[in-house]
Amino acid sequence: MKKLVVFNWKMNPSSFQKAKKLFDFSLKQSRKLSAHLSVVIAPPFVYLEHFFYLLNSKFKKEKGISLAAQNVSFKNEGSFTGEISAKMLKDIGVSYVIVGHSERRYLFGENDSLIAEKIKRAWENKITPILCVGEKKRSSFSSAWSFVRKQIEKDLVFLKKGEKNLVIAYEPVWSIGGNKPVDPLRASLMIEKIKSFLKERFHLLLPVLYGGSVDCQKIDDFLKYSQIDGFLVGSASLSLREIKCLLTKVDNF
Ligand code: PGA
Repeated sequence: MKKLVVFNWKMNPSSFQKAKKLFDFSLKQSRKLSAHLSVVIAPPFVYLEHFFYLLNSKFKKEKGISLAAQNVSFKNEGSFTGEISAKMLKDIGVSYVIVGHSERRYLFGENDSLIAEKIKRAWENKITPILCVGEKKRSSFSSAWSFVRKQIEKDLVFLKKGEKNLVIAYEPVWSIGGNKPVDPLRASLMIEKIKSFLKERFHLLLPVLYGGSVDCQKIDDFLKYSQIDGFLVGSASLSLREIKCLLTKVDNF
């Protein structure tokens, strides 16, 4: 299966100038990659449209790199101050949206029924949701799996037969944003579990990524496990050195 690397910039960087530098560099690196690796960049909303035009000029359409939004409204249009719809995202060329990220779940109080609605809006507008799931606390494998399974069941209630437009990212919440990634073998076993559940329950074979404290040094241990179809990278996606190193390693593996 093709590998996927998603760079989630979160609420960074703080100026358009810095964002452009980061984007131009990521684009330059992505041009060097083989066809087996796709790169998705999820910048803050305000930069999306500009980046879309950089990717799709009159003369050239960039391949191998796509845009994701970090959030989407659960509604398509109307009086919803501050919201941005999947329809609007589609209109400016966004291909993916991150849904169910733990920062949205736990800092902004998003629950599974809201997440399920957001995923439905994304599907209606032909945008691929990247659904983040993961246990909150370090716990035994079986209790972590039971937590993750319930999240998947609730978040995918609107999944219709034949819908293949979906990526799952397994991100144990305790491993995000620091120097504490999960044991790669355990991540790979959890990903295997998610895949077999999706196959049994929905007859689906989907890419499942790992996310949480991934950087260039730690990625080697994760790359050994073929069940892991790619990575959702936060902090490291803001460093030029890390971007280059991560993409090179995933591509060469
Ligand atoms: P991190 O973030 O790579 O900084 O741990 C990952 C994420 O939040 O998706």
